[in-house]
Amino acid sequence: MLAPTHTSVLLSEAIVALAVESGGRYIDCTLGGGGHAATILEYGSPGGQLLGIDADPQAIETTRTRLAGYNSSVLIVNENFVELEAICIKNDFLPVHGILFDLGLSSLQLNGSGRGFSFEHDALLDMRFSPSQTLKASDIVNTYSEIELAHLIKAYGEESYSRRIARGILKERPIKTTLKLAQVIERAVGGRKGRIHPATKTFQALRIAVNHELEYLKAALKQAVGLLGSEGRLVVISYHSLEDRIVKRFMKEESIGCICPPKIPSCVCQHTAHLRLISKRVITPSSVEIKSNPRGRSAKLRVAERIITQNELDDKTGRLHFLSLTNGSR
Ligand SMILES: C[S@@+](CC[C@H](N)C(=O)[O-])C[C@H]1O[C@@H](n2cnc3c(N)ncnc32)[C@H](O)[C@@H]1O
Repeated sequence: MLAPTHTSVLLSEAIVALAVESGGRYIDCTLGGGGHAATILEYGSPGGQLLGIDADPQAIETTRTRLAGYNSSVLIVNENFVELEAICIKNDFLPVHGILFDLGLSSLQLNGSGRGFSFEHDALLDMRFSPSQTLKASDIVNTYSEIELAHLIKAYGEESYSRRIARGILKERPIKTTLKLAQVIERAVGGRKGRIHPATKTFQALRIAVNHELEYLKAALKQAVGLLGSEGRLVVISYHSLEDRIVKRFMKEESIGCICPPKIPSCVCQHTAHLRLISKRVITPSSVEIKSNPRGRSAKLRVAERIITQNELDDKTGRLHFLSLTNGSR
């Protein structure tokens, strides 16, 4: 059997959105199979540098081999992007011209890892991106109360049958494997109804909870803004509405000045814009891309550019000394 591979989603759109240029310094926060990273390195050459981050040690191992030919142009770290700022400071990798997040999980994790991400392959209910994390999907499935489970499945899966599914899970506990959980869910909702498997949303909810995906995304986006030099690009590819809502709100809020409620007569928030939206409309894969890579059909790419505020320019503390890009701003 052929080893599973990951086809990068919105590859050329991401490179254009990042405005990759020779000699630039870029961060790929979700290295995965290294497809986006390799293309950034190609377009960034000569002189470009890439910091690649992934929480999954298996992805790191595979991709380290794939990118070995780029030698000192690439630095790969097995960390969680929630530590983005600390990783950059530790590796003296700032300011940067562009930061990419290609969220979620790769086809390598979904199809070939045996780590319980997919209801189509039997495996223990794990779903951790990194084995250093303690909470597994089986802990949630087998120890949460019915109310807690229903709430989690609703909040992170946007599943309208969340209560029925939670009740079904409680009746059948302990549930150790993906296929058993998928069967329990299918029974709880009264069988398959459409094209989408009835376990899809519950599996998404469990994965999000196990990996703190939404909290970590919010934290990392904030840190990313501080690491970008003037006109540096922030590019995020998301795969479901919960992620996309966070990215959309974040970019919108960071691209406007005052965010005081309209009732307040004069500004008290002192909020200033740190980003400029490059494309107000979300970028999605073409029908040709979807045909050749259906996994990417729900992808949404958003892009914004860093603007440095007068306050930041006036900052005399030295904390923000890295804000001007050493290679000259674009
Ligand atoms: C969709 S894949 C990226 C694919 C990659 N762009 C490519 O072209 O091959 C997402 C990757 O992000 C990683 N990931 C997800 N959340 C993470 C986090 N909080 N910190 C670090 N890596 C994370 C996953 O382990 C996975 O390998």
